[in-house]
Amino acid sequence: MIGLVGSGNMARALALGWGEPVLCTDVFPDRAEALAAETGGKALAGNGELADRADLIVLAHKPAQLEEVAEQVGGRARGVVSILGATPLADVKAAYGATPVVRIMPSVPVEVREGVSCHARDADADPELERRALELFGRVGPVVTLDEGQIDAAMGLMSCAPAYWALVVEAQVDAGIRAGVPADIAAQLVVGTMAGTAKLIRDREHDTLKVKRQVMSPGGSTARGVAALEAAGVRTAFDDAMQAVVAR
Ligand SMILES: NC(=O)c1ccc[n+]([C@@H]2O[C@H](COP(=O)([O-])OP(=O)(O)OC[C@H]3O[C@@H](n4cnc5c(N)ncnc54)[C@H](OP(=O)(O)O)[C@@H]3O)[C@@H](O)[C@H]2O)c1
Repeated sequence: MIGLVGSGNMARALALGWGEPVLCTDVFPDRAEALAAETGGKALAGNGELADRADLIVLAHKPAQLEEVAEQVGGRARGVVSILGATPLADVKAAYGATPVVRIMPSVPVEVREGVSCHARDADADPELERRALELFGRVGPVVTLDEGQIDAAMGLMSCAPAYWALVVEAQVDAGIRAGVPADIAAQLVVGTMAGTAKLIRDREHDTLKVKRQVMSPGGSTARGVAALEAAGVRTAFDDAMQAVVAR
């Protein structure tokens, strides 16, 4: 069974995506109990016991708890998968000593098995743990392997981005309401179009210009809408968001 250290947002999204019982812990026992109940798994009192009983453990606590949890695990884990944000592999390896470690950065759409994850390339990785981790995260969405130096920027494109797209949906829905469209209909239109456009862009091998040209007839309303977004600085806004994410 998979062991989750921490039973918060990301742990729950992963567990629901995997759709199988998990072992889990949390400093708030209620949180661990709730996740165990939701997955048919078991909440455990301590991270040492979790390490003893789990095939591998996933570090789903906050980055600041790295040392504390490593001490609680005390070298008892068979393998460690770190999803800790802004925490280099070297730091996790230093904390876990001889225990094999793999670093993967997921995103919350793993909950619906459409979550992109980024795997930090590591020439010294334990091949068996790496194979198992890639298989595990591959069940809940595509896994992209990157040099570790790119992981922070990648987080800005996938781990953080569900919040950005939720914000875009909110902004469009509010604009629709101001223009007289009932909120629930506006949400249906916006989310349906976002999901469809994502699929279209994927099917068009990410050729966004082709998709834009399909919608923008010369002098038409879409072209006016796009010009308004450009004038409002939509590109700069996304670039500023990325800089805010990668700035430490
Ligand atoms: N959320 C995302 O979209 C996302 C995406 C990619 C990666 N991540 C990474 O995933 C990790 C978890 O993020 P999250 O959003 O799920 O945070 P979260 O909702 O705060 O969940 C973390 C849970 O771990 C608990 N915890 C703290 N110390 C612990 C310990 N010693 N043993 C067991 N549990 C402990 C926390 O309790 P307290 O609240 O008391 O600290 C909290 O309940 C972070 O490292 C984050 O960088 C998150």
